[in-house]
Amino acid sequence: MTDAVTPRLREMRWWDIDPVLELEKELFPEDTWSRGMFWSELAHARGPEATRRYVVAETDERIVGYAGLAASGDLADVQTIAVARDHWGTGLGGRLLAELLSAATAFECGEVMLECRIDNIRAQKLYERFGFEAIGFRRGYYQPGNVDALVMRLTTQSDSGPAAGSTSERETEIHG
Ligand SMILES: CC(C)(COP(=O)(O)OP(=O)(O)OC[C@H]1O[C@@H](n2cnc3c(N)ncnc32)[C@H](O)[C@@H]1OP(=O)(O)O)[C@@H](O)C(=O)NCCC(=O)NCCS
Repeated sequence: MTDAVTPRLREMRWWDIDPVLELEKELFPEDTWSRGMFWSELAHARGPEATRRYVVAETDERIVGYAGLAASGDLADVQTIAVARDHWGTGLGGRLLAELLSAATAFECGEVMLECRIDNIRAQKLYERFGFEAIGFRRGYYQPGNVDALVMRLTTQSDSGPAAGSTSERETEIHG
């Protein structure tokens, strides 16, 4: 990694969209989110009616990761999660996911879903480490590449919410 400082997590704001878009283009070249999509998500991330939680990870120099979760009733969805390539394997993906799962608990969601490209083994391992389980596929979900999505789910049974990072007994499923 190039930055000496351990990245700090904080709420994502509109002025983070430009640097986040730079990472987004690099890390999701085939299905890059637009500026408008991030604006739309952040529009639902504040106030008493908030249904979104978006965070960035930053060093003293730059933003090196971001993640977002949407809540709807009892169900939460991991909308996105990404870490700059030079920070992979440092545990930052796990920290971001733990933050989203805390948000799911705060939103009182009993289930967290996500979709993940079928060929994204690294991400799937991360999700499995947190107790997510594969529950199905979405054929051709990622276009134009026509790549299937693995759907994963984490079911949180306890009042204390999802565990952060342990391969636990908890019941689960997927998304990405
Ligand atoms: C998927 C992604 C978010 C993972 O981020 P990450 O920061 O590498 O995740 P972590 O470091 O927490 O965990 C990854 C691996 O590093 C290992 N790791 C964790 N902490 C570590 C540390 N301190 N030192 C060394 N390795 C460590 C973990 O054990 C994990 O290994 P595993 O795959 O065997 O479980 C990242 O690869 C990424 O942004 N990919 C591109 C975008 C993407 O695919 N997003 C997901 C869409 S579904």
